[in-house]
Amino acid sequence: MANVAVIGSQWGDEGKGKIVDWLSSRADVVVRFQGGHNAGHTLVIGGVVYKLHLLPSGIVRQGKLSVIGSGVVIDPWALLREIEDVRAKNVDITPENLVIAENAALILPVHQRLDQALEAARGKGQIGTTGRGIGPAYEDKVARRGIRVCDLHDKDLLKEKVDNMMLHHNALLTGLGAEIVDPAQIYESLVQVAETITQYAAPVWRVLDEACHAGKRILFEGAQGVMLDVDHGTYPFVTSSNTVASQAAAGAGVGPRSVGYVLGITKAYTTRVGAGPFPTELQNDVGEHLGVKGKEFGTTTGRKRRCGWFDAALVRQSVKVAGIDGIALTKLDVLDGLEQINICTGYKINGQVVDYLPSGQDMQAQAEPVYETLDGWNESTYGARSWGDLPAAAVKYVRRIEELIQAPVTLLSTSPERDDTILMKDPFVND
Ligand code: GDP
Ligand code: IMO
Ligand code: MG
Repeated sequence: MANVAVIGSQWGDEGKGKIVDWLSSRADVVVRFQGGHNAGHTLVIGGVVYKLHLLPSGIVRQGKLSVIGSGVVIDPWALLREIEDVRAKNVDITPENLVIAENAALILPVHQRLDQALEAARGKGQIGTTGRGIGPAYEDKVARRGIRVCDLHDKDLLKEKVDNMMLHHNALLTGLGAEIVDPAQIYESLVQVAETITQYAAPVWRVLDEACHAGKRILFEGAQGVMLDVDHGTYPFVTSSNTVASQAAAGAGVGPRSVGYVLGITKAYTTRVGAGPFPTELQNDVGEHLGVKGKEFGTTTGRKRRCGWFDAALVRQSVKVAGIDGIALTKLDVLDGLEQINICTGYKINGQVVDYLPSGQDMQAQAEPVYETLDGWNESTYGARSWGDLPAAAVKYVRRIEELIQAPVTLLSTSPERDDTILMKDPFVND
């Protein structure tokens, strides 16, 4: 099966957008399967920058079908704004090349208000969410009171569902001391966008089944990263969806065997935006240097990302949990010029060395990294397009990462530009 799933192996922002865009030249269909507009995927093509939140990264290439699966939570207003922004960069977006799942749940303005009110109520225990309403929208979906794309067709049912949902939320908002939301206002604004949104709606499972039967190649585009997964991440400092590769099947509507090769996008160091444990975080000059050189500011919220050394124990865990077959190592160039580079191989917790991050919140908070140190390199790797262009110390660093995480490097990225990418093994080709 020549399909590929791209997922983040750390805490998001590993460079998934760039790699999906690069790989999409070899695919026919690109599918988002979880998350929402909390994601921010950056593509740089000939100096033009595209920041995508909900639209699959294949949208910029002509002749590719972009699909938003039912595992995604869709803010219809954010989607329409994004479509306009991308159209302004001369990209064609029509129901011919964009399809959204008729059974996907919607994010409504009340979800954003709740997200922000709940964060404020958490005080010191804040998660640092993107404030986009992702968590409350997934809660509604699981609670079976969510409003879905297909509900936009039936105005009476829609009204009933909005009233029912708001009965619940206005009680909660009142309890939180936040302003309540008028159900009529939500209903009216949904009616206004209903027609525009539903023109893209389709049974995605069927679109994908037909694509598979026609021998088309599907590229599944994950958002966030394994350590933000609601089951396998650093709970409760996680997002509200499963970000692992198996979610590609559920969130798109295909069988598990259709997922194909699992490519884990992995930054050559570590970043995290928002609160939560981060054992290799560097609150010093090196961390600052990585942030500045790597331009580590959030694509969605503009927040400064926390930076630290590469955590091989964490990525090894992601490789196992998500079934990663190989990784795309990104931002190697950001490490250029460092005299020495540390790699975390495990943690010291309560005086004991462990080779994985246990689930307990207290244990995660206490985890101290155990490092091994490698020589850095002075030469520039920025924009390198062949393995032979890399200095010996950089090659050694990449090889050591492969050993420690127990997965091969399939692709290497050396700048934000689409073509500054080194292919070691084509993930679409079985061998
Ligand atoms: P995503 O959420 O995983 O798609 O990643 P983001 O787009 O949020 O963040 C990754 C950032 O790194 C973007 O600004 C990319 O343009 C940039 N980037 C991706 N790959 C490379 C690379 O190899 N080198 C450098 N210097 N920047 C990169
Ligand atoms: P991409 O796809 C990095 C983080 C938030 C917060 C936590 C929960 O660009 O890699 P949420 O709004 O999802 O309830 O926030 O998850 N987060 C991300 N961090 N990259 C992302 O997406 C993220 N999406 C959510 O910062 O810590
Ligand atoms: Mg991002």
